[in-house]
Amino acid sequence: MKNLFDIRGLVVVVTGGAGILGRSICRYLAEQGASVVVLDRDAQAGGELLDAIRQQGGDGLFLTTDVLDREVLERNRADILAKYGRIDVLLNAAGGNMGGATIAPDKSFLDLEIDAFKKVVDLNLFGTVLPTTVFGEAMTARKKGVIVNFCSDSALRPLTRVVGYGAAKAAIGNYTKYMAAELATKFSPEMRVNAIVPGFLLTNQNRALLTNPDGSYTDRARTIIAHTPAGRFAEPEELLGTIHYLISDASSFVTGALAVVDGGFDAFSI
Ligand SMILES: NC(=O)c1ccc[n+]([C@@H]2O[C@H](COP(=O)([O-])OP(=O)(O)OC[C@H]3O[C@@H](n4cnc5c(N)ncnc54)[C@H](O)[C@@H]3O)[C@@H](O)[C@H]2O)c1
Repeated sequence: MKNLFDIRGLVVVVTGGAGILGRSICRYLAEQGASVVVLDRDAQAGGELLDAIRQQGGDGLFLTTDVLDREVLERNRADILAKYGRIDVLLNAAGGNMGGATIAPDKSFLDLEIDAFKKVVDLNLFGTVLPTTVFGEAMTARKKGVIVNFCSDSALRPLTRVVGYGAAKAAIGNYTKYMAAELATKFSPEMRVNAIVPGFLLTNQNRALLTNPDGSYTDRARTIIAHTPAGRFAEPEELLGTIHYLISDASSFVTGALAVVDGGFDAFSI
């Protein structure tokens, strides 16, 4: 029987590909033989990542993008199609929380910065919807393609303080399911959309919330770990197997699913 996890030769586009999670995913997928198109607004980090991919013998391309600018995305699409002729996979990894959209411990919803709330929804929701529209169009032409969105545990269970990001990621869960039906029924059952739901990782996005200046865990970090059956934060590499599964033929009948990778956080009550 064929190897269900063979992803050699797939053209995989990764928005936010130069970020903490994106770069670990891009390097892994290139190692597995995929051609990886890194899209990011950070040209330096993107260029360094592409050098690293090439040094490890992988194939790829880096393009500067802005996931909120349709014209830029359309130029990216033209460049990708000129080099590879198709897009097999889109990983919508650009996203993240923002300071102003989080309520400080001594504040309440009455102090909410609405502009910051809108910005975090823009990046996380429309920063997924726009690339899905632009790159998804190239997939519809071939009636084939796989999309993976990036959701969050904060979408499944609202976290204290993280109001804007949680709302945006909850919308990602809904959009993922909507698009699964849209693509399969209007275009082809060979077009699939799922979301990965990473639990808590200690990354730049949340370092200030989870660690003190001396590096020790904050009370919030200790609360998270106490609520995680696995008893620790995740490492970026622990998302790789799920991403690999979701973009490969091993998941050919899986669409509209939220794949939770959180050490049991969402499953745990008391
Ligand atoms: N790190 C975590 O703990 C965690 C947990 C759950 C979900 N997630 C989600 O996973 C995804 C990746 O997170 P990360 O930790 O790697 O974040 P990160 O901040 O390290 O990476 C995000 C990348 O997106 C890029 N980016 C930001 N705005 C952009 C724009 N407008 N256009 C193009 N690129 C842009 C940044 O330059 C950066 O390289 C995000 O959607 C995040 O919300 C992260």
